[in-house]
Amino acid sequence: MKSNVCVDAGSIYCPCHLAETKDCIVCSHLGGDEFCDCNWQGVCIYQNFIKNNERINELRKDVLCNIKSKIEIRENIYLLEIEIPKGLATELIHPGSYILLRGENRKEEKFNSPISVMSVNLDDNILSIIIEGIGPKTKDLLKNKKIYIKGPYANGIFGLKYLKKIRDKKVILVTRGLSAVTLINVCNQLLKNNNELEIFIDKNGKRILIVEKMLKNYNVKINCIDFNKELFLIKENLKKEVGLVFSAGSNFFNKNIMNLVDEVDKNIPLAITNNNLICCGEGICGACIVNIKGEKIRTCKTQIEPRIYLKEALK
Ligand code: FES
Repeated sequence: MKSNVCVDAGSIYCPCHLAETKDCIVCSHLGGDEFCDCNWQGVCIYQNFIKNNERINELRKDVLCNIKSKIEIRENIYLLEIEIPKGLATELIHPGSYILLRGENRKEEKFNSPISVMSVNLDDNILSIIIEGIGPKTKDLLKNKKIYIKGPYANGIFGLKYLKKIRDKKVILVTRGLSAVTLINVCNQLLKNNNELEIFIDKNGKRILIVEKMLKNYNVKINCIDFNKELFLIKENLKKEVGLVFSAGSNFFNKNIMNLVDEVDKNIPLAITNNNLICCGEGICGACIVNIKGEKIRTCKTQIEPRIYLKEALK
């Protein structure tokens, strides 16, 4: 049985190129089998593909956007505010949203950089992102006044189903470094469903104060602690009927948080940031593939159970 969940399944981007090449993540027919063996509960992807004369649905397009402002918020780390189309803005408010960016003079897609959405202001359609100029792509990107944006992409977090489903519960969010940018969309989603949020920020990482400032306007409790010495504070909180933990950090960080949660209760659902190398974002190039129990999984599109990912893919 094909049990993997493609984050694009049933969306306007489905069926995609993977249906044409018989590599569909969800549909067994479009994955090269002669029989139907999926547990997808939405509109049949195979039927859609056949009805559409075996053509794929629309592709994400590059949109040239204006950078409204660029501010250096830490050494070599910049906050960019970008004017984007309304339609794209409304798609980027979801947890785990990211985009591919490249400078206006770069025609080749090899210059695309995957960047997480920090926040979107729907009143004036301004997208805010944080970029650290560390590699050739991001350094190039930061020289521009206009940039190409391709999106929306949605698989920046594993465990999205937990973030979307949880209601009226206590949720603990832990973060370190630049991954903190993912907290804004996550908190918006969780607060919409009346959850009580407590955030722990590791003071040893690069702190993104703009995110902390935004979070202070939310109805959330924020603790900035030393994760090397004060993890017991999180552990104490985990014992108070927690319905979900969201961990936003490196794989090493997320794995440590998983171990901490499991020491208290292995049944507490976990969501984590997807830190895999993303290149095309469309399941084509293979840059993001991880091997889980012998199965090659495209992590730019596939939702993986966070504990399975942390235990199996990072062996
Ligand atoms: S990033 Fe290209 S296949 Fe996932």
